[in-house]
Amino acid sequence: MSESQLARLNRAHSSIRGRAGAPCEVAIMLGSGLGQLADAVSDAIAIPYAEIDGFPVSTAPGHKGQLVIGELFGRRVVMMQGRLHLYEGWTPRDIALPVYLLKRLGSRTLLVTNAAGGLNAAYAPGDVMLIEDHLNFTGVSPLVGPNDDAIGLRFPDMSRAYDPDLLKLAVEAAERAGVTVQRGIYTGVLGPALETSAERRFFRASGGDAVGMSTVTEVVASAHAALPVIGISAITNAATGGPDQQPDTIEEVFANAAVCGRKIEAILRELLPALPA
Ligand code: HPA
Repeated sequence: MSESQLARLNRAHSSIRGRAGAPCEVAIMLGSGLGQLADAVSDAIAIPYAEIDGFPVSTAPGHKGQLVIGELFGRRVVMMQGRLHLYEGWTPRDIALPVYLLKRLGSRTLLVTNAAGGLNAAYAPGDVMLIEDHLNFTGVSPLVGPNDDAIGLRFPDMSRAYDPDLLKLAVEAAERAGVTVQRGIYTGVLGPALETSAERRFFRASGGDAVGMSTVTEVVASAHAALPVIGISAITNAATGGPDQQPDTIEEVFANAAVCGRKIEAILRELLPALPA
């Protein structure tokens, strides 16, 4: 039988615990095109994923592939600069491992960011959406297989997958920062091909406001590990699937991710000091 997730987590943690320093308080996952937020971390140490025993190494464009540990807006943070995606060929369990490691490093909150297409016609590229909930359309879960009871429950609750109290703090932080935000449902898909217009209309009709190729796997792992989540989407392109739907380009996605990155940084400046200890 393959190595248990717990054994793999222990191995990864042992390989870096000496370098990671004092416990981190907040874990932050940076989505596609949002990696520049790592530049705001002071007294930073970087640990390339390749130096973490058993850790998957990100290959997605716009992703660096390192943990950045340091201080951000008064809190000790550990950032994943470079996220892992199912479309790269990683298994759902590979993608869950970093979440467990971030918790093991002391994190009490996981802040996930991503780039997403706007299914909701009221959204414009450059908008920021606070995630209220998700639809997992990847068809997979990182919890399939033997459960590691030392990590979490066999059947974790998902009714508060995006912690409502933390969401409220994020809404208030955005207000203080003067950043107008949307609030909505993130639809997670496998990728890497973008959705057809019919699929986008279907996701919209199903209640989705945004669609992207990440996040839901990590959030399931986070619920498993009882690590509360805040989710923020950068709306990088219009994805309504309507008659005026334009072809999507990666250049447009990155250009709008940069706009959103500045807004997200302004929100985090207000949010991080307000997060529970
Ligand atoms: N679909 C899926 N993933 C995405 C999109 C999209 O339109 N935009 C950015 N990531």
